[in-house]
Amino acid sequence: MKGLFITLEGLDGAGKTTQLHKAAELLRQQGYEVVESREPGGTELAEQVRALVLDSALPLNNTTQTLLYLAARSEHVDKLLRPALEAGKIVLCDRFSDSTLAYQGLAAGKTLEELQELRQLNAFATEGLVPDLTLVLDGDPKLLLKRRDARGVTDRYEEQGLELQYKLRSAFTALAEAEPERMRIINAEGSTDQVNAAIMAGINDFLERMQ
Ligand code: TMP
Repeated sequence: MKGLFITLEGLDGAGKTTQLHKAAELLRQQGYEVVESREPGGTELAEQVRALVLDSALPLNNTTQTLLYLAARSEHVDKLLRPALEAGKIVLCDRFSDSTLAYQGLAAGKTLEELQELRQLNAFATEGLVPDLTLVLDGDPKLLLKRRDARGVTDRYEEQGLELQYKLRSAFTALAEAEPERMRIINAEGSTDQVNAAIMAGINDFLERMQ
């Protein structure tokens, strides 16, 4: 595969979406062709699955949620991500397989050892597509939740409050510690510009190492 697959992960309210747009713009200014996408989503069907799975009025157990995320991911990889990567583009994606490991895995009570099954399911859904680089936006959930409240957005997970966010923070930290080559933790507590600078440093460092 000729392109480069970069994912942004982290807690709700960490500012991933804003940061993803900024990073994409800066990379375009550097002359790269960049595709922005998100999960769940990125294709028409996957966006419909997103609406279903994030609707907190629909009670869904953890297995059903997992399978919906994986169905959306399979579509997304097949129709958008793999073609863009094969065309040599940089793909920036807001969440991917690590979110399933964090939300439906560790934060749902599974141990690191028990993630094996979810890892296999991710591999099945993506036909083995793994990000080249994953930036995990990290910070104190209390601080990040204040920002989220200011945005006024809630979904199934955000409604579960601070306790879940602390579990997610530990989950993403554990995942990053297990794969330090691929996953980098970025401090998301600073200003938008500071976080952007840290993200660009992470991406540019990676691009330099690739050359
Ligand atoms: P977003 O708010 O970052 O766009 O993400 C949507 C929500 O979906 C977020 O609360 C995390 C959740 N999610 C999972 O639980 N599992 C997954 O595999 C993905 C991709 C997202």
